[in-house]
Amino acid sequence: MTDPKALRNAFGAFATGVTVVTTRQPDGTPRGFTANSFTSVSLDPPLLLVCLAKTAHSANVFATAPHFAVNILAEDQKAVSGLFASRTPDKFAQCTWTPGPADMPLIDGSLAQFTCANHQIIDAGDHLILIGRIDHFVTTEGQPLGYFRGNYFSIGIEKDLAEAAAAAKGSRLGAVLACNGGVLLKDDGAALSLPLAPKPTLDSLTASLTAQGLTPQIDFVYATFDDRTTGGHAIYYHGSVSGILPQGYRILPLADLATASIANPAEAALLHRYAEDYRNGSFSIYHGTETTGQVRQLGA
Ligand SMILES: Cc1cc2nc3c(=O)[nH]c(=O)nc-3n(C[C@H](O)[C@H](O)[C@H](O)COP(=O)(O)O)c2cc1C
Repeated sequence: MTDPKALRNAFGAFATGVTVVTTRQPDGTPRGFTANSFTSVSLDPPLLLVCLAKTAHSANVFATAPHFAVNILAEDQKAVSGLFASRTPDKFAQCTWTPGPADMPLIDGSLAQFTCANHQIIDAGDHLILIGRIDHFVTTEGQPLGYFRGNYFSIGIEKDLAEAAAAAKGSRLGAVLACNGGVLLKDDGAALSLPLAPKPTLDSLTASLTAQGLTPQIDFVYATFDDRTTGGHAIYYHGSVSGILPQGYRILPLADLATASIANPAEAALLHRYAEDYRNGSFSIYHGTETTGQVRQLGA
Protein backbone atom coordinates (compact mmCIF):
# COMPACT_ATOMS: atom_id res chain seq x y z
CA MET A 1 0.00 0.00 0.00
CA THR A 2 1.44 3.39 -1.01
CA ASP A 3 2.11 5.86 1.80
CA PRO A 4 -0.08 8.88 0.80
CA LYS A 5 2.17 11.36 2.64
CA ALA A 6 5.30 10.07 0.87
CA LEU A 7 3.44 10.13 -2.44
CA ARG A 8 2.29 13.72 -1.86
CA ASN A 9 5.91 14.70 -1.16
CA ALA A 10 7.08 12.94 -4.33
CA PHE A 11 4.40 14.74 -6.39
CA GLY A 12 5.71 17.97 -4.81
CA ALA A 13 9.03 17.47 -6.62
CA PHE A 14 7.23 18.63 -9.77
CA ALA A 15 7.57 22.45 -9.79
CA THR A 16 4.39 24.14 -11.01
CA GLY A 17 2.68 27.48 -11.31
CA VAL A 18 -0.34 28.30 -9.17
CA THR A 19 -3.91 28.92 -10.37
CA VAL A 20 -7.19 29.95 -8.80
CA VAL A 21 -10.17 28.13 -10.33
CA THR A 22 -13.47 30.02 -10.06
CA THR A 23 -17.13 29.54 -10.87
CA ARG A 24 -20.61 30.61 -9.76
CA GLN A 25 -22.92 28.48 -7.69
CA PRO A 26 -26.61 28.32 -8.77
CA ASP A 27 -27.55 31.38 -6.65
CA GLY A 28 -24.80 33.42 -8.37
CA THR A 29 -22.34 33.45 -5.43
CA PRO A 30 -18.73 33.20 -6.66
CA ARG A 31 -16.71 30.16 -5.54
CA GLY A 32 -13.04 29.37 -6.00
CA PHE A 33 -10.10 27.27 -4.90
CA THR A 34 -6.33 27.29 -5.40
CA ALA A 35 -4.97 24.58 -7.70
CA ASN A 36 -1.54 23.68 -9.00
CA SER A 37 -2.85 20.60 -10.84
CA PHE A 38 -3.64 22.74 -13.91
CA THR A 39 -2.56 21.21 -17.23
CA SER A 40 -3.03 22.33 -20.79
CA VAL A 41 -4.65 19.44 -22.67
CA SER A 42 -5.47 20.23 -26.30
CA LEU A 43 -5.18 23.07 -28.81
CA ASP A 44 -7.91 21.80 -31.15
CA PRO A 45 -10.37 21.66 -29.55
CA PRO A 46 -8.94 24.01 -26.88
CA LEU A 47 -9.02 22.05 -23.63
CA LEU A 48 -7.46 22.33 -20.20
CA LEU A 49 -7.83 20.36 -16.98
CA VAL A 50 -7.69 20.84 -13.24
CA CYS A 51 -7.94 18.13 -10.57
CA LEU A 52 -10.25 18.90 -7.65
CA ALA A 53 -10.26 16.90 -4.40
CA LYS A 54 -13.66 15.36 -3.70
CA THR A 55 -13.22 16.55 -0.11
CA ALA A 56 -13.09 20.24 -1.18
CA HIS A 57 -16.08 22.26 0.04
CA SER A 58 -16.65 23.47 -3.51
CA ALA A 59 -16.43 20.00 -5.15
CA ASN A 60 -20.21 19.71 -5.72
CA VAL A 61 -20.44 23.25 -7.06
CA PHE A 62 -17.69 22.63 -9.65
CA ALA A 63 -19.04 19.18 -10.53
CA THR A 64 -22.34 20.72 -11.65
CA ALA A 65 -21.36 24.22 -12.83
CA PRO A 66 -21.78 24.75 -16.59
CA HIS A 67 -18.73 27.09 -16.70
CA PHE A 68 -15.54 27.72 -14.76
CA ALA A 69 -12.46 29.94 -15.13
CA VAL A 70 -8.77 29.35 -14.46
CA ASN A 71 -6.64 32.30 -13.31
CA ILE A 72 -2.85 31.84 -13.51
CA LEU A 73 -1.32 33.76 -10.62
CA ALA A 74 1.50 36.29 -10.86
CA GLU A 75 4.49 36.31 -8.49
CA ASP A 76 2.93 39.00 -6.25
CA GLN A 77 -0.27 36.95 -5.70
CA LYS A 78 0.96 34.63 -2.97
CA ALA A 79 -1.72 36.03 -0.62
CA VAL A 80 -4.42 35.30 -3.22
CA SER A 81 -3.20 31.72 -3.43
CA GLY A 82 -3.32 31.43 0.36
CA LEU A 83 -6.81 32.96 0.47
CA PHE A 84 -8.28 30.52 -2.06
CA ALA A 85 -6.51 27.56 -0.46
CA SER A 86 -8.29 28.40 2.79
CA ARG A 87 -11.82 27.61 3.82
CA THR A 88 -12.62 31.27 4.46
CA PRO A 89 -16.36 31.63 3.73
CA ASP A 90 -16.17 34.82 1.65
CA LYS A 91 -12.91 34.59 -0.25
CA PHE A 92 -14.09 37.02 -2.95
CA ALA A 93 -14.62 39.84 -0.42
CA GLN A 94 -10.88 39.75 0.31
CA CYS A 95 -9.47 40.11 -3.21
CA THR A 96 -10.14 42.18 -6.31
CA TRP A 97 -11.92 40.44 -9.17
CA THR A 98 -14.09 41.24 -12.16
CA PRO A 99 -16.98 39.32 -13.73
CA GLY A 100 -15.83 38.09 -17.17
CA PRO A 101 -17.37 36.09 -20.01
CA ALA A 102 -20.21 33.80 -18.86
CA ASP A 103 -20.15 35.95 -15.69
CA MET A 104 -17.16 33.93 -14.44
CA PRO A 105 -15.19 35.65 -11.63
CA LEU A 106 -11.74 36.64 -12.96
CA ILE A 107 -9.02 37.47 -10.43
CA ASP A 108 -7.47 40.89 -11.17
CA GLY A 109 -3.72 40.86 -11.77
CA SER A 110 -3.52 37.24 -12.97
CA LEU A 111 -1.08 36.44 -15.78
CA ALA A 112 -3.70 34.55 -17.82
CA GLN A 113 -7.41 33.92 -17.46
CA PHE A 114 -9.25 31.12 -19.24
CA THR A 115 -13.03 30.95 -19.27
CA CYS A 116 -14.26 27.44 -20.00
CA ALA A 117 -17.42 25.47 -20.58
CA ASN A 118 -17.59 22.28 -18.56
CA HIS A 119 -16.49 19.76 -21.23
CA GLN A 120 -16.11 16.57 -19.20
CA ILE A 121 -15.71 15.45 -15.61
CA ILE A 122 -13.74 12.30 -14.94
CA ASP A 123 -14.04 10.52 -11.62
CA ALA A 124 -10.42 9.72 -10.69
CA GLY A 125 -9.80 8.21 -7.25
CA ASP A 126 -10.12 10.85 -4.55
CA HIS A 127 -10.22 13.67 -7.16
CA LEU A 128 -12.44 14.86 -9.99
CA ILE A 129 -10.71 15.82 -13.23
CA LEU A 130 -12.46 18.94 -14.53
CA ILE A 131 -11.88 19.26 -18.27
CA GLY A 132 -12.81 22.68 -19.60
CA ARG A 133 -13.34 23.74 -23.19
CA ILE A 134 -11.84 27.22 -23.48
CA ASP A 135 -14.27 29.86 -24.80
CA HIS A 136 -12.21 32.97 -23.99
CA PHE A 137 -8.75 33.67 -22.69
CA VAL A 138 -6.51 36.68 -22.04
CA THR A 139 -2.83 36.91 -21.10
CA THR A 140 -0.67 39.73 -19.77
CA GLU A 141 3.07 40.21 -19.28
CA GLY A 142 4.54 39.41 -15.89
CA GLN A 143 6.35 36.85 -13.80
CA PRO A 144 4.61 33.75 -12.46
CA LEU A 145 4.11 32.52 -8.93
CA GLY A 146 5.85 29.14 -8.59
CA TYR A 147 5.23 26.25 -6.21
CA PHE A 148 7.73 23.53 -5.34
CA ARG A 149 7.84 21.03 -2.46
CA GLY A 150 5.18 22.94 -0.50
CA ASN A 151 6.81 26.38 -0.87
CA TYR A 152 6.21 29.30 -3.17
CA PHE A 153 9.04 30.54 -5.34
CA SER A 154 9.54 33.35 -7.77
CA ILE A 155 11.31 32.54 -11.01
CA GLY A 156 11.40 36.19 -12.05
CA ILE A 157 13.41 37.52 -9.14
CA GLU A 158 16.01 34.77 -9.25
CA LYS A 159 16.51 35.09 -13.00
CA ASP A 160 16.73 38.91 -12.87
CA LEU A 161 19.18 38.80 -9.99
CA ALA A 162 21.38 36.13 -11.56
CA GLU A 163 21.49 38.01 -14.85
CA ALA A 164 22.27 41.32 -13.13
CA ALA A 165 25.08 39.65 -11.21
CA ALA A 166 26.60 38.04 -14.28
CA ALA A 167 26.41 41.29 -16.28
CA ALA A 168 28.06 43.64 -13.76
CA LYS A 169 31.83 44.15 -13.83
CA GLY A 170 33.70 43.17 -10.67
CA SER A 171 30.88 40.81 -9.67
CA ARG A 172 31.39 37.97 -7.27
CA LEU A 173 29.30 34.88 -6.73
CA GLY A 174 29.47 32.74 -3.63
CA ALA A 175 27.40 30.45 -1.50
CA VAL A 176 26.37 29.74 2.04
CA LEU A 177 26.49 25.97 2.17
CA ALA A 178 25.16 23.87 5.04
CA CYS A 179 27.43 20.99 5.99
CA ASN A 180 27.23 18.64 9.00
CA GLY A 181 25.28 21.06 11.22
CA GLY A 182 27.44 24.03 10.28
CA VAL A 183 28.46 26.20 7.36
CA LEU A 184 31.37 25.63 4.98
CA LEU A 185 33.86 28.51 5.16
CA LYS A 186 37.27 29.24 3.65
CA ASP A 187 39.93 29.65 6.31
CA ASP A 188 43.18 31.44 5.38
CA GLY A 189 44.51 31.13 8.92
CA ALA A 190 43.63 34.74 9.87
CA ALA A 191 39.98 35.14 8.90
CA LEU A 192 37.06 33.24 7.49
CA SER A 193 35.10 33.88 4.30
CA LEU A 194 32.36 32.28 2.25
CA PRO A 195 33.43 30.14 -0.71
CA LEU A 196 33.45 32.16 -3.95
CA ALA A 197 33.33 31.03 -7.58
CA PRO A 198 36.39 31.74 -9.75
CA LYS A 199 34.02 33.39 -12.28
CA PRO A 200 30.64 34.94 -11.27
CA THR A 201 28.49 32.11 -12.63
CA LEU A 202 26.71 29.24 -10.91
CA ASP A 203 28.46 26.70 -13.17
CA SER A 204 31.84 28.08 -12.10
CA LEU A 205 30.87 27.76 -8.42
CA THR A 206 29.70 24.14 -8.67
CA ALA A 207 32.67 23.20 -10.90
CA SER A 208 35.22 24.65 -8.45
CA LEU A 209 33.62 22.93 -5.43
CA THR A 210 33.37 19.64 -7.33
CA ALA A 211 37.04 19.93 -8.39
CA GLN A 212 37.91 20.13 -4.67
CA GLY A 213 36.13 16.83 -3.99
CA LEU A 214 32.88 18.32 -2.67
CA THR A 215 29.33 17.58 -3.82
CA PRO A 216 27.34 20.83 -3.75
CA GLN A 217 23.56 21.11 -3.92
CA ILE A 218 22.57 24.69 -4.75
CA ASP A 219 18.98 25.63 -3.84
CA PHE A 220 18.20 29.33 -4.41
CA VAL A 221 19.56 32.88 -4.39
CA TYR A 222 20.07 33.95 -0.78
CA ALA A 223 21.49 37.46 -1.10
CA THR A 224 22.24 39.87 -3.86
CA PHE A 225 23.65 43.36 -3.39
CA ASP A 226 25.71 46.09 -4.95
CA ASP A 227 28.99 46.15 -3.09
CA ARG A 228 30.14 49.77 -3.10
CA THR A 229 33.51 48.78 -1.60
CA THR A 230 34.38 46.80 -4.74
CA GLY A 231 32.06 48.56 -7.23
CA GLY A 232 30.71 45.14 -8.23
CA HIS A 233 27.60 43.12 -7.69
CA ALA A 234 27.58 40.28 -5.16
CA ILE A 235 25.31 37.28 -5.36
CA TYR A 236 25.25 34.45 -2.83
CA TYR A 237 23.35 31.21 -3.25
CA HIS A 238 21.95 28.99 -0.53
CA GLY A 239 22.58 25.25 -0.53
CA SER A 240 24.33 22.35 1.10
CA VAL A 241 27.52 20.42 0.49
CA SER A 242 28.89 16.99 1.31
CA GLY A 243 32.25 15.30 0.92
CA ILE A 244 35.66 15.30 2.58
CA LEU A 245 36.71 18.76 3.78
CA PRO A 246 39.44 20.11 1.45
CA GLN A 247 42.48 21.96 2.80
CA GLY A 248 41.89 25.63 3.54
CA TYR A 249 38.27 25.10 4.55
CA ARG A 250 36.50 24.52 7.82
CA ILE A 251 32.96 23.87 9.00
CA LEU A 252 31.79 26.47 11.46
CA PRO A 253 28.96 25.31 13.77
CA LEU A 254 25.84 27.52 13.57
CA ALA A 255 26.22 28.44 17.25
CA ASP A 256 29.63 30.03 16.49
CA LEU A 257 28.50 32.15 13.53
CA ALA A 258 27.72 35.22 15.65
CA THR A 259 31.20 35.41 17.19
CA ALA A 260 33.35 34.15 14.30
CA SER A 261 35.91 36.42 12.68
CA ILE A 262 34.46 36.84 9.20
CA ALA A 263 36.68 39.01 6.99
CA ASN A 264 33.94 40.71 4.96
CA PRO A 265 31.23 42.61 6.96
CA ALA A 266 28.55 41.89 4.30
CA GLU A 267 29.31 38.17 4.58
CA ALA A 268 29.22 38.42 8.37
CA ALA A 269 25.73 40.01 8.19
CA LEU A 270 24.61 37.35 5.74
CA LEU A 271 25.78 34.57 8.08
CA HIS A 272 23.98 36.24 10.98
CA ARG A 273 20.75 36.18 8.97
CA TYR A 274 21.44 32.57 7.99
CA ALA A 275 21.74 31.50 11.64
CA GLU A 276 18.52 33.37 12.45
CA ASP A 277 16.65 31.87 9.48
CA TYR A 278 17.82 28.45 10.57
CA ARG A 279 16.54 28.99 14.09
CA ASN A 280 13.18 30.29 12.78
CA GLY A 281 12.87 27.45 10.27
CA SER A 282 12.19 29.85 7.39
CA PHE A 283 14.32 31.37 4.66
CA SER A 284 14.62 34.78 3.09
CA ILE A 285 16.31 36.68 0.26
CA TYR A 286 18.35 39.83 0.85
CA HIS A 287 18.53 42.52 -1.81
CA GLY A 288 20.25 45.90 -1.49
CA THR A 289 23.78 47.14 -0.92
CA GLU A 290 26.57 45.72 1.24
CA THR A 291 25.18 47.63 4.26
CA THR A 292 21.44 48.25 3.76
CA GLY A 293 18.68 46.44 1.94
CA GLN A 294 15.47 44.48 2.12
CA VAL A 295 14.92 40.97 3.40
CA ARG A 296 12.10 39.11 1.66
CA GLN A 297 10.72 36.03 3.41
CA LEU A 298 10.58 32.92 1.23
CA GLY A 299 8.67 30.53 3.48
CA ALA A 300 9.40 27.47 5.56
C1 LIG B 1 -0.38 25.86 -4.00
C2 LIG B 1 -1.63 25.03 -3.76
C3 LIG B 1 -2.08 24.19 -4.74
C4 LIG B 1 -3.25 23.44 -4.55
N1 LIG B 1 -3.69 22.63 -5.56
C5 LIG B 1 -4.84 21.95 -5.42
C6 LIG B 1 -5.35 21.17 -6.50
O1 LIG B 1 -4.77 21.10 -7.57
N2 LIG B 1 -6.52 20.51 -6.31
C7 LIG B 1 -7.21 20.59 -5.13
O2 LIG B 1 -8.29 19.97 -5.02
N3 LIG B 1 -6.74 21.31 -4.08
C8 LIG B 1 -5.60 22.01 -4.21
N4 LIG B 1 -5.12 22.78 -3.18
C9 LIG B 1 -5.90 22.84 -1.93
C10 LIG B 1 -7.18 23.68 -2.08
O3 LIG B 1 -6.90 24.97 -2.59
C11 LIG B 1 -7.86 23.79 -0.71
O4 LIG B 1 -8.22 22.51 -0.27
C12 LIG B 1 -9.09 24.69 -0.68
O5 LIG B 1 -9.52 24.80 0.64
C13 LIG B 1 -10.24 24.18 -1.43
O6 LIG B 1 -11.28 25.15 -1.30
P1 LIG B 1 -12.74 24.78 -0.86
O7 LIG B 1 -12.63 23.78 0.26
O8 LIG B 1 -13.39 26.08 -0.48
O9 LIG B 1 -13.35 24.16 -2.07
C14 LIG B 1 -3.97 23.52 -3.34
C15 LIG B 1 -3.49 24.39 -2.34
C16 LIG B 1 -2.32 25.13 -2.55
C17 LIG B 1 -1.83 26.06 -1.48
